[in-house]
Amino acid sequence: MTADLVIRPAAASDWAAILPIFQHVVSEGETYAYPASLSSADARALWMEQPPGLTVVAEIDGVVVGTAKMGPNRPGHGDHIGTASFMIDPAARGAGVGRALGEYVIDWHRRRGFEGIQFNAVVASNEAAVHLWTSLGFEVVGTVPNAFRSPRHGRVGLHVMFLPL
Ligand SMILES: CC(C)(COP(=O)(O)OP(=O)(O)OC[C@H]1O[C@@H](n2cnc3c(N)ncnc32)[C@H](O)[C@@H]1OP(=O)(O)O)[C@@H](O)C(=O)NCCC(=O)NCCS
Repeated sequence: MTADLVIRPAAASDWAAILPIFQHVVSEGETYAYPASLSSADARALWMEQPPGLTVVAEIDGVVVGTAKMGPNRPGHGDHIGTASFMIDPAARGAGVGRALGEYVIDWHRRRGFEGIQFNAVVASNEAAVHLWTSLGFEVVGTVPNAFRSPRHGRVGLHVMFLPL
């Protein structure tokens, strides 16, 4: 499946395809602390990065199946460390799209001279994400206990994960 995968910068016209994925992930409530009540415009402002950041889509046969955003984690004296976020269409999960986007994100940061990538809030019960990021070389450098209220698991930790480049 991922042989046909294309990852490219998101155009403004891609928002219509990204929004349902964003809304599904937020409504699941298990992986991001975005409020469920965000308007399309507010969600778009949060997800569609401006330079020096970048938002990309992953598509198969012209259909958007996932998206990621990336860029400096902090401004100013912190901008040598990057960060990223990922959302895959639930119907396309488990087929390598997340891994392909993760590899793209690492390569994007490396090419631009970032010295590391920090994920600020990986929900500890998000087994797919913790497994995927660990397999790409990230380590949990700390966990804020009970910082996320999971609908399924109750209060769970938020991991800070880091990959030095
Ligand atoms: C986490 C997420 C990005 C993974 O994307 P994906 O396309 O399903 O991932 P892949 O198909 O590339 O699989 C990556 C690895 O995770 C594993 N995996 C997938 N689902 C899993 C699960 N529920 N539990 C454990 N491992 C799982 C796969 O087996 C694969 O490992 P392998 O290559 O060693 O076999 C996707 O599930 C998603 O968008 N989730 C909701 C939003 C989210 O969690 N974003 C990340 C927040 S940090």
